[in-house]
Amino acid sequence: MDLWRIRGGRRLEGECRAQGSKNAALPILAACLLCPGTVELRRVPRLLDVDAALQILRALGCRVQQQGDRVYIDASSISGSAIPRDLMERMRSSVFFMGALLARTGQAALSLPGGCKLGKRPIDLHLMALRELGAEIEEEGEQIFCRASSLKGREIRLPFPSVGATENILMAACAARGETVIRGAAREPEILALQDFLCCMGAEIRGAGTDTVRISAFHPKSALCFTLPPDRIASATLCCACAACGGDLWLKDCDSAHFSTVLYFLNQAGCDIMRKSDGLYLRSAGKLRAVGPVVTSPYPGFPTDAQPLLMAALLRAEGESLFRETIFENRYRQVPELLKLGARIRLEDREARVRGVRRLHAAALEATDLRGGAAMVLAGLCAEGETLVRDSGHIRRGYEDLNGCLQLLGADISYEGEKHGVFV
Ligand code: UD1
Repeated sequence: MDLWRIRGGRRLEGECRAQGSKNAALPILAACLLCPGTVELRRVPRLLDVDAALQILRALGCRVQQQGDRVYIDASSISGSAIPRDLMERMRSSVFFMGALLARTGQAALSLPGGCKLGKRPIDLHLMALRELGAEIEEEGEQIFCRASSLKGREIRLPFPSVGATENILMAACAARGETVIRGAAREPEILALQDFLCCMGAEIRGAGTDTVRISAFHPKSALCFTLPPDRIASATLCCACAACGGDLWLKDCDSAHFSTVLYFLNQAGCDIMRKSDGLYLRSAGKLRAVGPVVTSPYPGFPTDAQPLLMAALLRAEGESLFRETIFENRYRQVPELLKLGARIRLEDREARVRGVRRLHAAALEATDLRGGAAMVLAGLCAEGETLVRDSGHIRRGYEDLNGCLQLLGADISYEGEKHGVFV
């Protein structure tokens, strides 16, 4: 069990570097299976979810080496297409191995993926799309068996722009004969990162970042090197922390265009923000105004992942902020814990009304999920007294060194638990 101790009340000031993107890293790690040789990935964040992806690659017979923020994956001798259930259950992103394995070996045996419990998280769109490409898929309880003697390019229309389904199709379609066109594709920056990676490996793909993506050919190279983009949600986390506590943050090596909607609301709340080509500068007086409605929606809308973080930043803002969650049915799991700090939040179905309070007081909290856990740490930073956040590893699934970054900025925070970013 990890334990965070946060003594709130300090201004945050200083410089931090954005970590590599978790949500780009995970599909790209699965896509390494498509390379018949060695891939070198750079700026790989050291996270439990990345660790789980590397274990899956090893279980499939890949040779995996890690040096600092670089990971080398040799998938030339891949020897299996079945993923052990315990590894599947460790994260949602294990589902990407379905498309990647189908493309590389023509089969995949796996079980339903795990991940944060945010309500129903079906994979019907993934299965529908892979079937359309010609895969035969049998579901037996929680087990899924996929087989395809050959995949055939098709036009696939997604009724909802699912990020995960778009990524699975991109990978599987690389092995398909003929062109695949995805209509209604997700437009998240991580789709663009996967397209860039696959193109670097020898695929012809265009359209990522729009709602129509075309995958037309794939001539895999036997070696490549790729650098992951910065993490937009981890970047948004540090901005929300500084906004809430008051302070001056220089966040370098981030891409502010990828979390503009979060910055828009922080600016509305009273923060000064200056974007530069190599990062961003944020200044907050610590006294924020309420904002809203903050409506989560697919990119380029407000990211569902940033909702708990912005909420934490606004707990002491003047007035009432309104949040509306449209992506996941159970994305307010942080709320009962934030109430223990004295926050005033009213939940009604998919809406949360946050009435700013003058003071928050310390309490003992339990992290419920990755972003919810980070939101509790942020709220602790502006609560009076010592807040404890007990966490069974959620935060380390997505943050490389949140404790170190916040300490660097002057927060009075300490962390007991397993060391961050330990690869096995
Ligand atoms: C979601 C976020 C993504 C974020 C990621 C990691 C959106 C649209 N997606 O991606 O930005 O980076 O979490 O936290 O905000 N759905 C189905 N059937 C499916 C797949 C999805 O009904 O087969 C539904 C989900 O239940 C959910 C919605 O579609 O309501 C979004 O799903 P999707 O984009 O696939 O989720 P993730 O890939 O987890």
